[in-house]
Amino acid sequence: MKKRIGILTGGGDVPPLNAALCAAKNEAQKFGSELIGFLEGWKGVLEGKFIDLIETPIDPRIGGTILKSSRANIAHVEDGPRTALSNLKEVGIDGLIVIGGEDTLSNCFHLGAFPQVLIAKTIDNDVGRFDGGDECYRPENVMNFFTLGYPTAAEKIASYVSLESGLRTTAYSHERIIIVESMGMHAGWLALASGLGHPDFIIVPEFPLVYASFLNTLIEKYERLRHLVIVVAEGAKWEDGTYLYAEEDDMTGYDHPRFGGAAEALKARLKKDLDGRIPTRNINAVNPSYLYRSGAPNRVDALAAMRLGKASVRLLQNGLDESCFLWLRKGRRGLAVKASPLRGFASVDELHRFVDSRFYDPVKLSLTGDAERYLRDILRPGRRPTLRD
Ligand code: F6P
Repeated sequence: MKKRIGILTGGGDVPPLNAALCAAKNEAQKFGSELIGFLEGWKGVLEGKFIDLIETPIDPRIGGTILKSSRANIAHVEDGPRTALSNLKEVGIDGLIVIGGEDTLSNCFHLGAFPQVLIAKTIDNDVGRFDGGDECYRPENVMNFFTLGYPTAAEKIASYVSLESGLRTTAYSHERIIIVESMGMHAGWLALASGLGHPDFIIVPEFPLVYASFLNTLIEKYERLRHLVIVVAEGAKWEDGTYLYAEEDDMTGYDHPRFGGAAEALKARLKKDLDGRIPTRNINAVNPSYLYRSGAPNRVDALAAMRLGKASVRLLQNGLDESCFLWLRKGRRGLAVKASPLRGFASVDELHRFVDSRFYDPVKLSLTGDAERYLRDILRPGRRPTLRD
């Protein structure tokens, strides 16, 4: 039966969004259904701004989102949830596909019984759950194997620091200490992924930096290697719990500080403390920043996005009784799409995941074997995916 399906992309963009939109469009077309794309995330729903996606050419290989994005929060707007709901009804939407990170998805909890399908996208990889208690990592215990955008960003950060394609070579030639900043807000998943490129230290937000012992290890290692590559997450904290760098009064629409400056802050402190011990001119900070989110998706990301985009339309097409969260499960035969009813989660916080000691060693400031296995499972899936999947 012909349906009128809505879709939006909110929060920080990621490379495979157009792939998801394209797959959703193709699936809707098969049923002769309409696909209404709300512009700039929830802002488009609040302001009634949308386009007909069936009539819009979409190139799945190009990053970003043709629908554009915003951090609009309907809970922060007077009468926001009521306006959003009445606009969706006025446009005649049978169900809404919401592609976003934890913030964008949190809006779905304000729309009562309105049928929604939630898809997690964020380079932060912080939407999902690692079940199985303190057990080792097992792919089958991961609810939402990764968020859309993470595979591409993870591959990038590993390459930015590696010997083969990254900063290690110039750090070596000039005996530099290079500090690379990762994005990821309060979660260390992106910083952790740099581990595949073998940096000397990784500092994640979940484990405050014990600076004195870090400094001693750093000096000892620098004296041995005469160069170092350090990765620091933008949301990293000093031992007293304060951020290395955060603009606390420049909140996003969701009460987070604005990050971007942790590498510079660490550089400044190291320059001061290493003065006279090593040539401090050679302590440098690099922040790839939005490069993590830019450009084309890698194949893993594009494939996952297409599967999720297609499955979301299929669910609404079949008549969805209740809202659900769509997620990726890694099985022996590759990635599968699963759906869990939203009523199983009291709020989006239950879907918010952080790096823990299964994945990070706070003494070595490095990823664990479990983290390495998890990352390799993401980036080298058993079967080589094709864009036709
Ligand atoms: O949540 C994704 C993310 O890229 C974070 O890693 C980063 O802190 C933030 O978005 C940057 O936000 P904005 O796009 O608003 O500058």
